[in-house]
Amino acid sequence: MIIHPQIQGCVARNCHPLGCRAAVQQQIASVRAAGPFNGPKRVLVLGASSGFGLASRIALTFGAGADTLGVSFERGPSDKGLGSAGWYNNIWFRQAAEQAGRIAINLIGDAFSDTLRQQAIETIRQQLGQVDLVIYSLASGIRVLPDGTQVRSVLKTTGQPFSGWGLDLERDTLVQQSLATATPEEIRDTVTVMGGEDWQLWLQALQQADCLATGAQTVAYSYIGPESTYPLYRDGTIGYAKEHLHATAETINLQLAHIGGHAWVSVCKALVTKASAYIPVLPVYLGLLMGVMKERGVHEGCIEQMQRLFAAKMYGPQGVVADGNRLIRMDDHELDPAVQAAVSALWPKVTPDNFHVLGDFAGLRRDFMQLNGFELPGVDYGAPVDVSSLTELVP
Ligand code: NAI
Ligand code: NA
Repeated sequence: MIIHPQIQGCVARNCHPLGCRAAVQQQIASVRAAGPFNGPKRVLVLGASSGFGLASRIALTFGAGADTLGVSFERGPSDKGLGSAGWYNNIWFRQAAEQAGRIAINLIGDAFSDTLRQQAIETIRQQLGQVDLVIYSLASGIRVLPDGTQVRSVLKTTGQPFSGWGLDLERDTLVQQSLATATPEEIRDTVTVMGGEDWQLWLQALQQADCLATGAQTVAYSYIGPESTYPLYRDGTIGYAKEHLHATAETINLQLAHIGGHAWVSVCKALVTKASAYIPVLPVYLGLLMGVMKERGVHEGCIEQMQRLFAAKMYGPQGVVADGNRLIRMDDHELDPAVQAAVSALWPKVTPDNFHVLGDFAGLRRDFMQLNGFELPGVDYGAPVDVSSLTELVP
């Protein structure tokens, strides 16, 4: 079977499993090239199969020799298709980690459920003993609460409705997009799905089960962004959820004091992932930002960002480098006033005719394709993929 990309709007409908392997290998090579650092040895990664979670796992295993348990929600092969990119990322990551002599366990299921929490606790007890670090990197549009209630998050703004050019990855063009004003219920529901409640439930359960080592830390990922994106993000429903996440770090931090542990939030830079491509209008900012940051030599992809987080800002010589609000600022280069001035000068000029000239939308598009295993160097996309051998692989 020859696999061609199927992109619908800003969502990939399929993946190239062998391309996913090349993408995982590329990230491993990047971490190896950056050199080793002294990091945590046993790590639980919630949301381990793509984006920041996968990059974190790769940075810690191949940079610091960590054994990991990764939790994710992914589809394997079925009559509906070959399965999701994250499914294969889990497989290729585990294979590479085991080749390097590391433990890598994948749990596939709903991280919001008590059942999966118990499964993770059992697995930690049996295979890792305890963990030194818990990474919270879930991005989801839906959460089923422990009592069975389904809650959905929305991507809306909270002030005036906001509209502007958005990116249509399928047609490689710009289209008008708008964010409606959220109702109070929609804000509350988005906080329930993407805020800190579930993070706290995880840390509580792990601590009660004695799965956290003395001095264990936890970090969750957040975004703030520049003022020009506030209507899209910080003042949007997702921004309220992140505010809640930040407040939860304080609560968890207090709880971890008993074992000498700490909770942090890492405020990251905007990057192309499955989750961010889905936010209206934001990818146009992202394409302009990528152009400006590359021009100035300060661009980072997911893997560079996560390698720097652990090697320099959490486990470097100075320990954790955070501001007064327990926030680790990985968005320092993005928020550099000179970078923002350059982006702000370009943004009002963007049209469907000139966006490729004004920003690095080719780079953004390639990053997006690569998340799904397409457009990676060294992969023969004209060659048929042996589907039966892929269906035998397990995460
Ligand atoms: P992603 O979509 O690449 O990764 C999400 C992960 O969560 C995947 O591993 C997926 O399998 C897992 N997941 C989703 N629902 C699940 C469930 N019910 N049970 C188990 N696993 C589940 O997204 P990305 O961008 O890596 O997002 C991770 C975090 O980073 C999010 O909190 C996001 O807000 C944050 N962040 C993202 C930025 C960006 O520009 N992409 C910037 C700053 C923060
Ligand atoms: Na992730």
